[in-house]
Amino acid sequence: MKPFTILFLSLLATAPASALAKSRVLSQHQEVNLQQGWLFSRDSLHWQSVSIPHDWAISGPFDKKWDLQYVAITQNGEKEKSEKSGRSGALPWIGRGFYRRTLSVPKRATHAYLQFDGAMSEPHVYVNGKLAGWWAYGYNAFRIDITPYMMKGRSNEVVVSLNNREESSRWYPGGGLYRPVSLILTGKAFLDPWQSFLYTEKADANEATLVYSDHVKGGQGEQLCERIQLYAPDGKVVATAEGKVGNDGKIGLRLRVARPQLWSPETPTLYQVKIELVKGQGRYATVVDSRTMKTGIRTIAFSREHGFQLNGVSRKFQGVCLHHDLGPLGTAVNKAALIRQVKILKDMGCDAIRTSHNMPSTMQMEVYDSLGMMVMAESFDMWHYPKCKNGYARFFGQWADKDIEHLVRNHRNHPSLVMYSIGNEIPEQWSQEGVDIARRLQDICHRLDPTRQVTQGMDRAEDALKSGFAQVMDIPGFNYRVYKYDRNISKLPQGFLLGSETASTVSSRGVYKFPVTVSDKNVYPDGQCSSYDTEYCSWSNLPESDFMAQDDKDYTIGQFVWTGFDYLGEPTPYDTYWPSRSSYFGICDLAGLPKDRYYLYRSVWNHRDHTVHLLPHWTWPGREGKVTPVMCYTDYDEAELFVNGKSQGRRHKTGRMSVSATAGKLVEKMGKEITDSLLSRYRLMWDSVVYEPGELKVVVYDKNGKAAGEKTVRTAGVPAALSLTADKDTLHADGNDLSYITVALTDKDGNPCPDTADDIHVEVSGAGTFQGICNGDATSLERFTEPHMHLFHGMLVATVRSGHKPGTITVEVSTASGIRQTITIAVK
Ligand code: GAL
Repeated sequence: MKPFTILFLSLLATAPASALAKSRVLSQHQEVNLQQGWLFSRDSLHWQSVSIPHDWAISGPFDKKWDLQYVAITQNGEKEKSEKSGRSGALPWIGRGFYRRTLSVPKRATHAYLQFDGAMSEPHVYVNGKLAGWWAYGYNAFRIDITPYMMKGRSNEVVVSLNNREESSRWYPGGGLYRPVSLILTGKAFLDPWQSFLYTEKADANEATLVYSDHVKGGQGEQLCERIQLYAPDGKVVATAEGKVGNDGKIGLRLRVARPQLWSPETPTLYQVKIELVKGQGRYATVVDSRTMKTGIRTIAFSREHGFQLNGVSRKFQGVCLHHDLGPLGTAVNKAALIRQVKILKDMGCDAIRTSHNMPSTMQMEVYDSLGMMVMAESFDMWHYPKCKNGYARFFGQWADKDIEHLVRNHRNHPSLVMYSIGNEIPEQWSQEGVDIARRLQDICHRLDPTRQVTQGMDRAEDALKSGFAQVMDIPGFNYRVYKYDRNISKLPQGFLLGSETASTVSSRGVYKFPVTVSDKNVYPDGQCSSYDTEYCSWSNLPESDFMAQDDKDYTIGQFVWTGFDYLGEPTPYDTYWPSRSSYFGICDLAGLPKDRYYLYRSVWNHRDHTVHLLPHWTWPGREGKVTPVMCYTDYDEAELFVNGKSQGRRHKTGRMSVSATAGKLVEKMGKEITDSLLSRYRLMWDSVVYEPGELKVVVYDKNGKAAGEKTVRTAGVPAALSLTADKDTLHADGNDLSYITVALTDKDGNPCPDTADDIHVEVSGAGTFQGICNGDATSLERFTEPHMHLFHGMLVATVRSGHKPGTITVEVSTASGIRQTITIAVK
């Protein structure tokens, strides 16, 4: 440390109690989360008390009349209009909604801002009856300076008015103040997190250099300094830096960290950062503002030679796309729900999330930082050209630049963020105008954040390559059509490409259709898809094609599967079928329960743990003597299957079939030999197993031919018991924590009864409340917020919420036939 620094630090430490403490100006900024105290109304006549985050539509009722769209989905190749009943979730999210509360601002505050992490949608903020400001996009964070409208030291009324238009979304957007709202009070000078930027310039095992920049607003003409301290996870200060704020309010600092603990999905180490804004020098030095944040030390790079590199090591994204809803919670963001999602995905081997097709919430980014998920933060699903009548295209011209700016400012300090996306399947791909816009939006990202590269998901490769749209992007991202990758790469100067959206395989948990066919056209009278994982859409493919593209082609840098979890709305292939109101694309269902496909990805992506998964279930009364194909998803290459002890043969993963062999054609058109060869590279299959009740068992073999594990599935007897499994048995007494209880009906020996649909009642008492229920059935119209629901293929998930006081939550679950089970959850 330089002598000057030491002198300065010791002077600061001995500085007398701030002169500012006596001042009439706020000495430090304050941020208050406005969770409680809101009244909500749909008509501004009848008000109810709510806490934020809040989604006004999730309680339903489901009805096809809500946002009934009569349209042709041109992205799906449709030419004729038809009725799309569940397209945006069949929940009452459209129309107006109002939130109101009182606020008082102390006289000492120089400025007061309301910060919204998103509000659905077109939020207009009124203070004491006057419009203080508004934002157009429902997904973005924004701030309103309410200072001019406030009466300091008095009670003020804040009203937020929202308006959701019909046909403004291709999925369920939710409605209301669905992300946190906070009040920021500042003194004259303010350390604004949207102005400061801390990033890793370089890092290796020995040393890291971090670069910090800030633009201090307010306090001009004062002698200001900034001091920054970095704390390692063990609480020790490992780097400090300080410097003068220039007359323009700007400052740049560098920090050196010896032997840094690098951030990665596998080691999500976070350092604590303390930033202080100091006025004056020597005896009169005073801290006029301070704040803390977290940072992760890591480098990211993209290149032709090495593809994507994190901390200097090449890796391919094993990512999933996620819409923002949290199933039965709707869009009201919740930390415990996000953590559960990430844990489920990480166990599958997933290391990245694309926040399709819009800005992530801050809470989401914090969870991804701390648990280790790399993020592609997306922004738009459309630019000028509308994908639905009242979508964001109405605002794009006026708002796009501001929206991108807020995306970057709000999230650039998160280590989990590895790239921005400026669009998804933008119709303007073919045009010069599109190229110009892409360049402009990408440039805004670069200007505000030179450390991240920018992508977008393109679906019309030929057009995008012809116009130059694809060549402009830092990271060319292609949605689907894997068989075009070879041709695309030959025209790309970047030398690498990303599977920005992949698979779109469809399935319903627990549903198996016979005969098993590989097809992009299968639909059934019950509105379900087969869980044999052989069904997809005309524009999409099975997971195997993506695995091959990633495994065989050096130029690919990874993929983002559509989607990690089912979401509300877009019930393809049942867009015109009623009732159906949520997706079938998820690797997990809407309740978060893994479908079979989960284990297929896990067998390829999770390099730490073994996977041995068998499908289908083995309780098929009426199928005796019928051919019932069996598949095993495993990371082992070889396995033998037994039915009641009789061998069905040993299978070995075969076929180095490459994805180019499928060029331009649909796999199903190529005949069984080729589909078998496609599937059998990643799954083990026994096509001609004849069902008989009893025991289905698989034994897997390692490379030396030694038995390495096994899995058994048994035919279930009559339902006799309920099995309750909570993802957490202890909750925080903060009123926000959640425990997800998986409810399954079993026979007396604990074998799951896979086809049961009993009506389940849930009674919650004690230190928490019932939050929601979901069975993952896309065709169910039962409400998520009432404590009863039918099982879907033997299972559902009930969620309970902690109260504010310690104690015990008792959850009693029962069937109509009188089977009961109780589970308790501690609240501390
Ligand atoms: C893509 C689109 C996604 C979703 C998906 C379904 O083309 O980007 O939003 O619609 O298709 O397969």
